[in-house]
Amino acid sequence: MWGVCSRTAVGMAKTCLFKRPCHLVKPVSATRVAGRYLSHQRGLPALPVPPLQQTCERYLNALEPIVEADELTRTEELVQDFQRPGGVGERLQRGLEKRASMTENWLSQWWVQVAYLDFRMPVVVHSSPGLVLPQMDFRDQQGQIRFAAKLISGVLDFKAMIDNETLPVEFLGGQPLCMNQYYEVLSSCRIPGLKRDSVVNHAKSSLPPKHITVVNNFQFFELNVYNSDGSPLSSDQLCIQLERICSAAQETSAEPVGILTTLHRDIWGKAYLNLMKDETNRDSVTAIQRSIFTLCLDRAGPHGSEETYRSCAAIQMLHGGGSPGNSGNRWFDKTLQFIVAEDGTCGANYEHAPAEGPPIVALIDHVVEYTRKPEAGRPEAGQPVTLPPPRRLNFNISPEVQKDIDEAERSVNRLAQDLEMKVKVFQHFGKNLPKTFKMSPDAFIQIALQLAYYRKYQRCCATYESASLRMYRLGRTDTIRSASNASAAFVKAFDDPNKQNSEKVDLMEKAVKAHRWYTNIAISGQAIDRHLLGLKMQAMEEKLSVPALFRDPTYSKALHYHLSTSQVPSKTDCVMCFGPVVPDGYGVCYNPMEDHINFAVSSFSMCSETNAVDLAQAVEDALLDMRRVLEQSPKSKL
Ligand code: COA
Repeated sequence: MWGVCSRTAVGMAKTCLFKRPCHLVKPVSATRVAGRYLSHQRGLPALPVPPLQQTCERYLNALEPIVEADELTRTEELVQDFQRPGGVGERLQRGLEKRASMTENWLSQWWVQVAYLDFRMPVVVHSSPGLVLPQMDFRDQQGQIRFAAKLISGVLDFKAMIDNETLPVEFLGGQPLCMNQYYEVLSSCRIPGLKRDSVVNHAKSSLPPKHITVVNNFQFFELNVYNSDGSPLSSDQLCIQLERICSAAQETSAEPVGILTTLHRDIWGKAYLNLMKDETNRDSVTAIQRSIFTLCLDRAGPHGSEETYRSCAAIQMLHGGGSPGNSGNRWFDKTLQFIVAEDGTCGANYEHAPAEGPPIVALIDHVVEYTRKPEAGRPEAGQPVTLPPPRRLNFNISPEVQKDIDEAERSVNRLAQDLEMKVKVFQHFGKNLPKTFKMSPDAFIQIALQLAYYRKYQRCCATYESASLRMYRLGRTDTIRSASNASAAFVKAFDDPNKQNSEKVDLMEKAVKAHRWYTNIAISGQAIDRHLLGLKMQAMEEKLSVPALFRDPTYSKALHYHLSTSQVPSKTDCVMCFGPVVPDGYGVCYNPMEDHINFAVSSFSMCSETNAVDLAQAVEDALLDMRRVLEQSPKSKL
């Protein structure tokens, strides 16, 4: 098994393999350096299919801390039957191995379908993450426009690296990563269907788009961001164009057509057909779908105190605050939406089907760095020429479409009311502290989450942490199951007054090591969840009845993630946020910086058992208590 990271080489390092300056803005028409991206991709290994017996064993191990003994006994029998020689498991395994030999990645297409395109809940809150940047230092529309113009220039600067194939290749544990996701996030959009959605990527078309869409006061505009010679508009030119958009948008009011994209996907699929009956609407929707990205120029949202600012901002990024707020000032199907509000609140929302958080954050890190550079330090392409005004994208609202908009307003308001979000900046230490104690910071945080959950509920729960599979061609993610026998032993002992500190530290070290071990097997394609999914999909592909193993209530329990978590690190002091994946669960995203950790914790207020504010506090307490016992234990002192 290759690719298991050593603890000193697990960080994401970046190396520019391609010897071109990375920050140079190249005209979009610049000759594509054909083949660099492709040859890098071809050099990547294919995702392996793990051995059947290994997965079966690891599955039973993973169940131990989260199911009752009688449930486990029943599942053990099902597993035995599934993997018996000549049984259905072996047949499906062979099918999967054949699929792996015939495809670039046996999993990726299935995964996008099952996890995203067949998932019918609204993308808002249930699938699309938000990202909260630090509040910028402007408080009016003038400042908003200036910043937004720089932001557009920053994205175009990044896009030039994609177009020219000069994007630095990323590494994990010394292994180069698949860069495909970077090629999927710009100029793409999700399209609603009646039963299944799709994603179109116009960057790959013969006429790639040269415009972005800007939405202000619920009105959409097409803004061409390149001059006729292919050079990007300068920040000054963009400012002029954005001013034109804002004054045109203030002159009239409009129905919030974008709010339709917050609907349940089956309902939106039908509403989409209604909307697209009209030619003007078709033209406008196509312009949005084709655009490089969407820029949402928001009005200021509610602030609250300094303490609650980031939580309020996260809500703006995740769903826009409902119909009285900015939820209609979005097109949630768009892969990438940057959000800039008049009060300096900034961030993004992205549709998850084409990519995970890390490539989005890498793009945003680049953009933030770009906006901080002095104007003089930046290449200014294009002379100040008179530009045609941005094109307003009109919509004709039939009574049918109006009804759909009304329904979308009601449903997004319910959703907005239901979502509880707490952004907590844990100020006491960052990833530096676990490193001092020779522990993986990510594992340390995950074990603190286990402790926080156990203290609140007196039980361990199925926990999901995303692990990158990007060491493999077209790799997406697998699941790190953070609840392990070792973590269960630790959380059960931690508050036991009869246990000595040294024993607690010993159990903590074992739990952290077990988590890092699972991380290593997950990133090297040897975890259980995608393999089990693949075996189930293979049964469906071969039109076999779904094996009893997958109809087992224990399997459903194992997939009912009360804790759905993800680390999304960044250079910028920001945090990503997402909703819980089950009605009685939590979504927890965190960004460990050197000396502090940003957490975004979400829950649904309809569930009386969960409370994001309480869990965030419990995580803080767990981290502090874990530090305390480490510092009090002579063994751990360096
Ligand atoms: N002692 C000292 N230092 C250690 C250590 C130890 N025992 N173990 C790890 N470290 C160091 C690492 O070298 C690294 O150093 P750096 O800050 O200089 O880079 C740092 O601690 C962080 O390592 P760790 O906390 O173990 O996490 P990681 O960076 O390996 O990340 C995952 C772990 C699971 C988050 C990562 O592998 C991954 O898969 N990321 C993608 C997740 C994703 O896709 N999320 C988005 C979903 S939308």
